[in-house]
Amino acid sequence: MTKHTNLSDYASRRFRFAGNALLKFSDPFFAQIDKLKNDFESAGTHFVSFANYDYLGLSSHPRIVEEAKRELDRLGVGALASRLVGGERSTHRPFEAEIAQFLGMESALTLVSGYLANVTTIAWLMSGKRDIIFMDELAHNSIVAGADGAQAEVVKFRHNDYDHLEHLLQKRRENHRNALIVAEGIYSMDGDVADLPRLLEIRDRYQAWLMVDEAHSLGVLGETGRGLAEFQGVDPSRIDLIVGTMSKTLASCGGYVCAKKPVIDWFRYTLPGFVYSVGLSPVILASARAALRLMQEESWRIGKLAKNAEFFRDAAHEAGLSTGPAIGRGVVPILFQDSVETMWASKHLLEKGFYVPPIVQIGVPKDQPRLRFFLSANHTEAEILGVIHALRDMPPVTAEAHEIVAAAMAGVSL
Ligand SMILES: Cc1ncc(COP(=O)(O)O)c(C=O)c1O
Repeated sequence: MTKHTNLSDYASRRFRFAGNALLKFSDPFFAQIDKLKNDFESAGTHFVSFANYDYLGLSSHPRIVEEAKRELDRLGVGALASRLVGGERSTHRPFEAEIAQFLGMESALTLVSGYLANVTTIAWLMSGKRDIIFMDELAHNSIVAGADGAQAEVVKFRHNDYDHLEHLLQKRRENHRNALIVAEGIYSMDGDVADLPRLLEIRDRYQAWLMVDEAHSLGVLGETGRGLAEFQGVDPSRIDLIVGTMSKTLASCGGYVCAKKPVIDWFRYTLPGFVYSVGLSPVILASARAALRLMQEESWRIGKLAKNAEFFRDAAHEAGLSTGPAIGRGVVPILFQDSVETMWASKHLLEKGFYVPPIVQIGVPKDQPRLRFFLSANHTEAEILGVIHALRDMPPVTAEAHEIVAAAMAGVSL
């Protein structure tokens, strides 16, 4: 009989392996940002977060707060049930119609998170053993989880390398029934974008379906914030599936999937993550709807975000910092030599009132740690220069910091 492992012991070993040794040096995660802000400001230091994806600076906009309150008074908090069997609120369908129309797609369905939208859509759509999924190697974990849950074969192509994608399609497409290609509008850790015209051309030639995750590009790419298609001058209705989230630009919570009407009609009655999960709370929905409208009424915010992100990228380069392939929109990372230097940089920034937790071990390749900055239309040039100069003038990592981490890592194995 195999030896039984105590669950807590197993978890501790796995956690150490995952990199919690670094936390002995510093733990910037799970900070209570409202409290942090209060503490800094009562001590007379300006506090700025670059860790929150409030791209257009709408999260505390009075109109959104007011509409959320009005809906709270009218309908309460709970969504109460799965919409299929429990019924929906009069606001669900109009919001879906509004977002679909805004994106230039025929129809949309909302789910409780963007993560769930990817997981359930991919797993459900590619449920045949003869299906095949081609995904970018830097795909978000929700795409990976969806593919893991599908019956289909899964193949990864090198990041944004469409010659490689074609090579894989040439080798494998013929022996499969349905093929799905998945890419992202803005890659969430690198801040670069997919090449939509090329992807559509490949999609057509190999008779595949194309799904684009626009989580970070709604409100960020394109003059009016309609995302990758607008940014690259393509008709969005040529995309088979657009998945997105209301948790970023729309300053709320929840996900959506857009497609042609027959696809969404089918999903509405069968998509597991929709059918077997609760609908969106009316308060959440009202906030997202208000944000979607504000984004159009106050479209200057989209230009301001682009200006801020480009200013950040250029200032970083001037300071000798690497931003990798980021194009200078909502997400711009700064890359470091190793995890200790990244933790050190994050700690140093927090001491100066800039909240930017490090991305190490999880979410990016282990040899490519970084500080990932989310820019917002609300950031000022002074705040951006402040954080870049703080990094430029950062003292070198001490030997002691390296030792603390090395000691904590010693003997780590599974
Ligand atoms: C590319 C991408 N897709 C999907 C999601 C999931 O969205 P949500 O956080 O709203 O569940 C994220 C979250 O950050 C993301 O970066």
